[in-house]
Amino acid sequence: MQIAVLLGAPGSGKGTQAKRLTDVGFKHYSTGDMLRAAIKAGTQLGEKARAFMDKGELVPDPIMIDLIADTFSKLPTDSRILLDGFPRTVPQAEALDANPTTQVGLALNFDLPESLLVERLTGRRTCQECGATYHIKFIPPKVSGVCDRCGSKALMQRSDDTEEVVRRRLSVFNKQNAGLLDYYRKKSVLVTVRADQPPAAIQTELLKKLESWSK
Ligand code: AP5
Repeated sequence: MQIAVLLGAPGSGKGTQAKRLTDVGFKHYSTGDMLRAAIKAGTQLGEKARAFMDKGELVPDPIMIDLIADTFSKLPTDSRILLDGFPRTVPQAEALDANPTTQVGLALNFDLPESLLVERLTGRRTCQECGATYHIKFIPPKVSGVCDRCGSKALMQRSDDTEEVVRRRLSVFNKQNAGLLDYYRKKSVLVTVRADQPPAAIQTELLKKLESWSK
């Protein structure tokens, strides 16, 4: 498999970019989306995860490592993957590299000043029907309250995008991030992406980095 991981703070734009890049041959896997789907479906995994997510805490490593191992074991070995939201900790990064078929070849670190993150997250709206993401100020839908992609009127705020939970998520992120960046720096696969640009400019930068890595 060819696996590129998307690193960066909550709200730095990982999901927005990964969704735009699926038409260049990469499959997008977001652990946050997988957990929210499990909660919606009322599975045991969803029940376990909900308590952590509602508080802005990380779901324990063994649960997340099993989820990714199980998901990837069902994929063809020539899959090209953008992995968003995993790893969040060094043990998660080590678990990926421990399996020869899931070793990470590129770690794209979305770099955005912390002062911009709270506004990005509290203004996010997600379509409950198709998963498209908007921002009430920076990336609004063409018609207010209506999804551009599927026409649904179910644009909602995520339950963990309230200011209180956002601040907790950022604090959890700050505790884990330096160790994770160090891990990938030592492997010589870490690349920085300037995430304070307009979405189209970030996409162009990412495409160049992905092309030169995967050719
Ligand atoms: P998850 O769903 O992964 O959330 P996150 O990491 O907190 O990341 P986000 O999805 O919030 O941010 P993003 O970078 O994708 O930003 P987006 O593109 O949407 O995880 C949720 C929870 O699940 C965790 O707290 C944890 O409990 C659990 N979890 C998940 N994975 C786990 C793991 N591996 N281990 C343990 N627990 C785990 O953009 C944000 C906003 O900005 C949007 O409104 C967007 O429209 C806007 N925007 C995007 N780009 C731009 C731009 N260039 N300019 C202006 N606005 C922009």
